[in-house]
Amino acid sequence: MAPHDAVEVITAKRDKGELSDSQIDWVIAAYTRGDVADEQMSSLAMSILLNGMVPREIARWTAAMIASGERMDFSALSRPTADKHSTGGVGDKITLPLAPLVAACGVAVPQLSGRGLGHTGGTLDKLESIPGWRATLSNEEMFAQLESVGAVICAAGDGLAPADKKLYALRDVTGTVEAIPLIASSIMSKKIAEGTGALVLDVKVGTGAFMKDVARARELAETMVGLGTNAGVNTVALLTDMNTPLGLTAGNAIEVVESIEVLQGGGPADVVELTLALAREMLTAAGVTDVDPAGKLADGSAMDVWRAMINAQGGDPEAALPVARESHVVTSPSTGTLTRLDAMAVGLAAWRLGAGRARKEDPVQAGAGVVWHARPGDRVTQGEPLFTLLTDEPERFDRALESLESGFDIGEGTFTAPDLIIDRID
Ligand code: URA
Repeated sequence: MAPHDAVEVITAKRDKGELSDSQIDWVIAAYTRGDVADEQMSSLAMSILLNGMVPREIARWTAAMIASGERMDFSALSRPTADKHSTGGVGDKITLPLAPLVAACGVAVPQLSGRGLGHTGGTLDKLESIPGWRATLSNEEMFAQLESVGAVICAAGDGLAPADKKLYALRDVTGTVEAIPLIASSIMSKKIAEGTGALVLDVKVGTGAFMKDVARARELAETMVGLGTNAGVNTVALLTDMNTPLGLTAGNAIEVVESIEVLQGGGPADVVELTLALAREMLTAAGVTDVDPAGKLADGSAMDVWRAMINAQGGDPEAALPVARESHVVTSPSTGTLTRLDAMAVGLAAWRLGAGRARKEDPVQAGAGVVWHARPGDRVTQGEPLFTLLTDEPERFDRALESLESGFDIGEGTFTAPDLIIDRID
């Protein structure tokens, strides 16, 4: 006979109790096998959202999700490993320049990424705009590429934390995504199972992020850093601003273009700043302290790793990228200083133009997205371009325009944008 039953576990949490290690191990394993039904797990997830979990429960829940699948091991590689995880934002293309940059500095990057859902973009969607590039690698291919190139960005295989795959899909449709214990254990179970030696978390805060306020973002970051450290992964977190979208583009191919500009030593200042800050954290966490990543952008070696990384996964780094069939320019309604550009408004517009998907099985348009021609603090002139909207389907323009209408402010005088990096947690 099973040591527990689902109703006993649900009612314990419903009544604000702490779940025992044995209850947690059982409920995760039984749910993965299909012995606990979706409606039972969704009731438990809602009880966790409402009543929380203590650190011991979160650690055990994470360990049980890791144990539901395989664990990768890169300890036989000739160099140390470090990975980065972002909680998701608008225009967040940082993984693209960051992985080859860190590899160029001597640390291998096994980056398992996802596809976008809702208004935030997905790294794999962006890379799939490169002709020929493939996201799926076997574990052996991943290991070989890490040894030869030093960086891999690919899809997580089905064997990694299958309990999370099932639970995340359920949370998505039951209003239970926002629980900090569930977010922290979901992210960290995948990262710990992936086998990285060091991990840097980019926890986004602001209108375009999961976490709208700094206090909740800090709580999430502290919870994840604690889980990583206790599992033997050297983990640090940066809290970074996501009230304003990153860079000057949100979409797929257009974000690849912007990332290549960074790898060529140019690109928007905020993208360069965050890429370098995260690179320094990853290198330090992996024990490499004598290499300056800025030099590797300037001397072209990060770009060389990018080309090798794209090539190794079947992509042509020199191929022309897809361009949207239609464009629409929005001009500035007045002259002054741009004082606000709202990440959520831009993300929603890019999504409505076809850069993102509503359901996980939907396709995305490679060329769709939003380009903005000014960032907060820049001067803008009435009648000059403020946004360029891109899509293959012009009937999408109206809904995207609606989203941008209240997404920016133009004021008088000067304006200093708030700091991009808000805090560091280790
Ligand atoms: N990303 C994840 O992988 N899991 C969550 O729960 C939220 C964001």
